[in-house]
Amino acid sequence: MENKGISKAVIKRLPRYYRYLGELMNEGVERISSHDLSERMHVTASQIRQDLNHFGGFGQQGYGYNVAYLYEEIAKILGIDQKHNIIIIGAGNLGQAIANYTNFEKRGFIIKGMFDVNPRLVGMTIRGIPVYALEELEEIIRREEVQIAALTIPKMRAEEVAEKLVAYGIRAIWNFAHTDLHLPDDVVVENVHLSESLMRLSYKLVHMDSVSGEMLL
Ligand code: NAI
Repeated sequence: MENKGISKAVIKRLPRYYRYLGELMNEGVERISSHDLSERMHVTASQIRQDLNHFGGFGQQGYGYNVAYLYEEIAKILGIDQKHNIIIIGAGNLGQAIANYTNFEKRGFIIKGMFDVNPRLVGMTIRGIPVYALEELEEIIRREEVQIAALTIPKMRAEEVAEKLVAYGIRAIWNFAHTDLHLPDDVVVENVHLSESLMRLSYKLVHMDSVSGEMLL
């Protein structure tokens, strides 16, 4: 599947389409019009048509979208039609919460191990996932063909650990540490900051007109 020319904004919306299409498949729905999909997703039908037109071939007048086909095509674009091996650096509260969440595996993200500097954590298993010492990082990355590392360590340590990960072949970092990482251009970083999301929620709360429900700013 060719994805040249698809804007970042569309790519950002694809996981949501994927989720809704998955739900439709579970309900046994084989095809859906942009109008019906728009009602479910609370976005305009024209937005849906514009977004999904990038993938061509489906969404015909009078037929709607073939749900299973679209679901598979979006999976290909997102690269989740294949498995990705993951490690988690930092086996504390957040690292363990991620390890305990089973849905990532259902999406093809396989957690191969966790790493920590705390000797009390090393040697433990979290939902069957071993916690290794940092010294074993290189060997495990190479042996398990790890592609993605989640960083759930304090921010002071994040940059140095990220550099090590890159030196050992990691090309994708799921960064939860509250710091911006400065890494080579061929390394992709996805920052996840719950507190920033909470601040955006606070903004909306504070600037929402309580009568009309519209944003004031
Ligand atoms: P925690 O203190 O429970 O766990 C951190 C773990 O990292 C500890 O087990 C510690 O031994 C380990 N660690 C420290 N230095 C390390 C290193 N160089 N290599 C490997 N392991 C190392 O903390 P928690 O609550 O799990 O948070 C972890 C990080 O994630 C913090 O920086 C926190 O600010 C951040 N965080 C980010 C969120 C987000 O939305 N992005 C949400 C919650 C926490």
